[in-house]
Amino acid sequence: MSVIGKAVEIAARYLPDAAADPLLESRGYIGQPRNRVDGPSKVTGAARFTAEYAPDSLAHAALVCSQIASGRVAAIDTTAAEAAPGVVLVVTHANAPRLKAPDMLDPPTGKGAAPSDLPILQDDRVYWNGQPVAVVIAETLEQAAHAASLITVDYAADTSRLSFDALKSAAEVPKDILGEPPEITIGDPDKALADASARVDEIYRTPWYNHNAIEPHATMAIWSDADRLTVYDSTQSLKRFSGSFERVFGLASGAVTVLAPFVGGGFGGKAALWHHSVICAAAARLAGRPVRLALTREQVYRDVGGRTLAEQRVALGAHGDGRLAALIHTGITATPDHARYAEQLTFPARHLYASENLFVGQKVVSLDTVANTWMRAPGESIGTFALESALDELAYALQLDPIELRRRNEPDKDPTKDTPYSSRHLVEAYARGAERFGWSGRSLTPRTQRDGEWLVGQGVATAYYPALRLPATARLTLHGDGTVEVSAAAHEMGMGTATVQIQHAAERLGLLIERVSFRYGDSSLPDSPLAGGSCQTISIVAAVHAAADRLHQELVRLARRADGGILADATVTNTQLRDGGLSRVDDPAKTMSLESILRAAGQDQIEVEASSSMPRESLKYSIASYGAQFCEVRVREDSGEVRIARWLGSFDCGRVLNPKTAASQLRGGIVMGIGMALTEETLFDERSGRIMNPSLSEYHIPVNLDVPYIDILMNDVADEHTPLGAHGVGEIGITGAAAAIANALYHATGKRVRSLPITLDKLL
Ligand code: MOS
Repeated sequence: MSVIGKAVEIAARYLPDAAADPLLESRGYIGQPRNRVDGPSKVTGAARFTAEYAPDSLAHAALVCSQIASGRVAAIDTTAAEAAPGVVLVVTHANAPRLKAPDMLDPPTGKGAAPSDLPILQDDRVYWNGQPVAVVIAETLEQAAHAASLITVDYAADTSRLSFDALKSAAEVPKDILGEPPEITIGDPDKALADASARVDEIYRTPWYNHNAIEPHATMAIWSDADRLTVYDSTQSLKRFSGSFERVFGLASGAVTVLAPFVGGGFGGKAALWHHSVICAAAARLAGRPVRLALTREQVYRDVGGRTLAEQRVALGAHGDGRLAALIHTGITATPDHARYAEQLTFPARHLYASENLFVGQKVVSLDTVANTWMRAPGESIGTFALESALDELAYALQLDPIELRRRNEPDKDPTKDTPYSSRHLVEAYARGAERFGWSGRSLTPRTQRDGEWLVGQGVATAYYPALRLPATARLTLHGDGTVEVSAAAHEMGMGTATVQIQHAAERLGLLIERVSFRYGDSSLPDSPLAGGSCQTISIVAAVHAAADRLHQELVRLARRADGGILADATVTNTQLRDGGLSRVDDPAKTMSLESILRAAGQDQIEVEASSSMPRESLKYSIASYGAQFCEVRVREDSGEVRIARWLGSFDCGRVLNPKTAASQLRGGIVMGIGMALTEETLFDERSGRIMNPSLSEYHIPVNLDVPYIDILMNDVADEHTPLGAHGVGEIGITGAAAAIANALYHATGKRVRSLPITLDKLL
């Protein structure tokens, strides 16, 4: 067996030159609408999720969570719990092992996983209502839950900061927003707004939202000895988790393996290392046996953060022809002192429109809550609600078609970054969408279309999400039978990760797709970024491309030495990998199968690893996905009841690697956008800091009857500056969706609703 030196590969950091990639426009496996390779294991139940693993001597954990929003645990009585049947151990801050706080999740540095910088179970402080203050370990889950109910806690409560409205005047400008400046000014937007011939200046409100992945968070921790830990965790951040556990428990690098073979949805809620995961590992260490801690649905609301509430102002001033003279987008969001995450709601306004004068700025107010966190297109989702509602309002003020208004404000370069766009075809996405949706017949006047008791309206809004890439490493193992295994510490949350990587590797290596497999879900595999920011697919594609080039080099080296001399003059440039072999480009008859190259070299396998570069392309270009959301609503005139009647999303998200899985991602985002617009809202009790509707029966996510058939169009134009010309598709679907609905509802009813969710009372 030959393992090519990893250090050499990683030193040769690889920047994908997408424009020179022969696969940029190829039409083999890439671009095919293939079914997900993990589909059969999921529909048959063979796929196992974290809470389904049950090793010998597994014990079960149940949390006790704080009932106050801030203060101290004055006393905690665990006697009854400790005496209860089946109880192994009760852990509180009094007996928890000493743990370092994990590093915070910080996208720019690629390190850390914690949603906040709080110590976990290390002292008596309480920072939010719902914070875990004790955990019971017992033989069965029922015994643990019963014993947890016997624990009594006396609290010394502080005065808590819980009212956004009362505290928003004290909001402060954060240091930065994901590494970007919190404020940007171009020209004199206030003056331009005052002088504009048409003007919109409104406030938009959005509530707290919570994560509801189908699989609630779960962790199982197994210590094999004092310094070696295996954790099964429903995470979208394998490597950040393993590194964080090592730091928290003071273990050597590589001492912790995190496994997440399947994840039942994450949407950002599983990117961060929430307290329960660390508590589970600490409890397993004290108990000296494996422990599983599965959050209840209610605990997911209390212990895992969601989307912040927000108040945004959008002010637009236009010339008579619709060109923007002023664009002002500001917003206030909430975050606790221990998280300080300002969700990037002004990011779309930084990149979408040409305006002569511009101001974007964000502030945050400190509240005593669980850490807010990433939730599908954090910032952009609610930011586009405000911005794209305001654009629609401006279109009515100007008596201009809203698509035409956007076309007139299409910039020729990025307005705040001052760089060219790598690939932007939003106008085309609107044109194709308008054609397919039948937009041209729409009346400009609201409340003019009806069908019996139903008022009918159509709305559009722009979708926007950056196309990010992070450095990644991939390994390729060529086996003696000519099959190839691709491996990386990647995540499969149902989006098609494995399927698309197999499509790419098979085409890149000239193999039948059945001969390629993908290993993922294990932090001990080569480094891969978290599945977040819609960046996983292209990040790994770049690494697989680099590794495939290394494998090609290695095969050339071995083929030149093989007996018979068919490929004695082979070089990387005069050969290619195709049809399961290495062949001369100028004379395809000169070929050796991959198996025969291995045999001739006397090797049973070749393993290569390579890494992609830092995303330097994002310094030179503004790289993003775009979309045009088209929606038709029907509103019952007497009751205000809303139906989403039709939907078309027309997207410009680079080249499409798998139209089936991509459309599924986009549809999922739109469904989440329908929930955000119409039914979802976390009810937060400002007296106690307690979430009042922590269940799927009271927090209404869309169900099948709420969602029409969602038609998806994709431009499918390759971006020459991204791997395979592709962009991410995971998050853009939710952006613009709520605005398209609000705009359609205005068109149907003549009522402009600027606060989500748009419940029927707001339409009457
Ligand atoms: Mo996404 S909110 O980064 O999973």
